[in-house]
Amino acid sequence: MKETNEAQDSEMANEMIDSGRTGHEDGFDLDWQDDHVVPKFMFPDLEFFFERLSEATFDAVSPRPGERVLDVGCGRANDAMDLARRGGNCLGLEPSETMIYHAKRDIARDGTGVALLRGIGEDMPLKSHSVDKVVCKGALDHFPTPERAIMEMARVVKPGGAVIITVANLDALGFRLGRTFFVRFRKLLGREESIYEKIWQTPFDHTYRFDYKTLNRMVKQHMHVDESIGVSLFFASPWWGAMLSKLPRPVWRTILRMLDAIARHVPSLSDGVVLKCSLRSSGHTQHG
Ligand SMILES: C[S@@+](CC[C@H](N)C(=O)[O-])C[C@H]1O[C@@H](n2cnc3c(N)ncnc32)[C@H](O)[C@@H]1O
Repeated sequence: MKETNEAQDSEMANEMIDSGRTGHEDGFDLDWQDDHVVPKFMFPDLEFFFERLSEATFDAVSPRPGERVLDVGCGRANDAMDLARRGGNCLGLEPSETMIYHAKRDIARDGTGVALLRGIGEDMPLKSHSVDKVVCKGALDHFPTPERAIMEMARVVKPGGAVIITVANLDALGFRLGRTFFVRFRKLLGREESIYEKIWQTPFDHTYRFDYKTLNRMVKQHMHVDESIGVSLFFASPWWGAMLSKLPRPVWRTILRMLDAIARHVPSLSDGVVLKCSLRSSGHTQHG
């Protein structure tokens, strides 16, 4: 991919960009689109899961005024805009032209002054140690070689800075119970495969299957994990969303908040995981 600096005329972006670095086309989805992502009907558990995933990520980033924040795989740059409103000096990195197009339009409408850069996470066109915080939410499992992207995040973050990685945990307790008991029960009754069984598998547009253990193992090759935060419990458990939707909103929100408070402390079982990482004091990865 040629480096296409779509909208990075801001001073910050210019200071960070290393024009000698370019991305690669092989195996990369350079035109991901999100038409299929937003479901037609939002059950309470899904709405809550998305909301908490963002909240927990933003809390972990907590940009100080003027801090340079890089959002890797920023999509429409909604998170980058949110972090800019919280004081961050934000740059969104994104390979998809379609997503860049939407992001540019939304940023112009919003007036938040987020800069955009077209590129891939595995070979970022950025100078080493040029960013205070790196965030990558719901995107790493779309990368063909996520470990390379993690190495890159460790390269571009400043010593003393933080890298925040958020993914869905495909080994969440709800998914595990569903795969073990629900599937057996369904087979015993001779019923057809249900929609849940599809949700519990790796989604079709993911390139990599992440769970808490796999993510930790991969990140620890390159960085120190300072904090692991779990988000939500029992998302997409059979009939759960439908049952919750029968309750008044304040009631289902209270139930889900209580479960989320438990999930926070057991990230290996929770539906989503936020890892807050930093460079090891030597600044080197285990691979050197
Ligand atoms: C599910 S979207 C998440 C977008 C955003 N982070 C959010 O939470 O709304 C995944 C994004 O990762 C991007 N992506 C896919 N492969 C990538 C890569 N190799 N490097 C950087 N971004 C990539 C896609 O184009 C897409 O915009």
